[in-house]
Amino acid sequence: MGNVIKKLSIGLAVGGALVGITRALEFPFIFQMMFFGYAMLGAVVFMLLDAPSLKTMSGMKSLIALIAFYIVLCTVYISGASMWPQYDPEDEKGKIAKILGPKFAATQQGKAEELIARAKALDDQVKALEVRLKALGGDQVAKEPPAGAPPATTGVATGDFMKQGEEQWQLQECYNCHKLKGEGGKKRGPELDNIGTYLTVDDIKQKILDPKSFMAEGFEKEWEKGKMPDKYKDLMEANDVVALASWLGTFKNTSVNTPKPIKKK
Ligand code: HEC
Repeated sequence: MGNVIKKLSIGLAVGGALVGITRALEFPFIFQMMFFGYAMLGAVVFMLLDAPSLKTMSGMKSLIALIAFYIVLCTVYISGASMWPQYDPEDEKGKIAKILGPKFAATQQGKAEELIARAKALDDQVKALEVRLKALGGDQVAKEPPAGAPPATTGVATGDFMKQGEEQWQLQECYNCHKLKGEGGKKRGPELDNIGTYLTVDDIKQKILDPKSFMAEGFEKEWEKGKMPDKYKDLMEANDVVALASWLGTFKNTSVNTPKPIKKK
């Protein structure tokens, strides 16, 4: 008994000293308590060393004793750990929300700004085209169609249709994997600047709706792994697919090394 009191008081003294030191070092309160806890744990271990040794067990009895000991240990460990406030999931969720909240807002804002910039660029392109059209006298034709000529609106409609295709390229984020006009692509898929030389609009449409239908030569691995997403048939309106395919079909830049598509289906 005297030994127990002696060891307990040493434990308390060490624990107290640790609390004093950690407090002086401005450790958070929870850490001060943790150090105190460790000192007490140490005292208990030293006290246990004085305990009379158990009788030797054997057979089933020893197995049960072992399992019981394991269960007690687990319970103490888990319930002890869960008492520390830093393991409170609500606490953690709060912290994560605090950190991620502003970042998330920033990315949303960034995305919006990017879209606005893109819309502006497209608008500028349209304006430039209008100027060129005017220079060619295209507006005259549009205003005063000669008798018997096809309705001038066809030209405008085609332009809109191409614009719709380009918009789909942006909206569906094909540029994430494909380079076109030197833009986009993170080397995951082929450059498409010459795709119009190889594929008809219908073929391109088929490739978008069913990426397994064609395989770009040299991209066997990617094709097999299904790198090109098989989701556009669900995401896109039929009309948008045709617009995108028609727009892509106009790309016939033979100086760009677009791999040859191989028909698979
Ligand atoms: C996650 C990446 C990824 C996205 C997004 C993606 N593709 Fe692909 N695409 C690939 C890969 C990889 C290949 C080459 C393997 C193959 O043929 O399936 C490919 C091949 C192609 C080909 C054939 C090219 C050739 O030379 O044979 C076309 C056409 C094509 N994609 C169009 C599109 C269009 C249009 C979109 C957007 C609607 C799109 N892709 C979105 C990865 C992607």
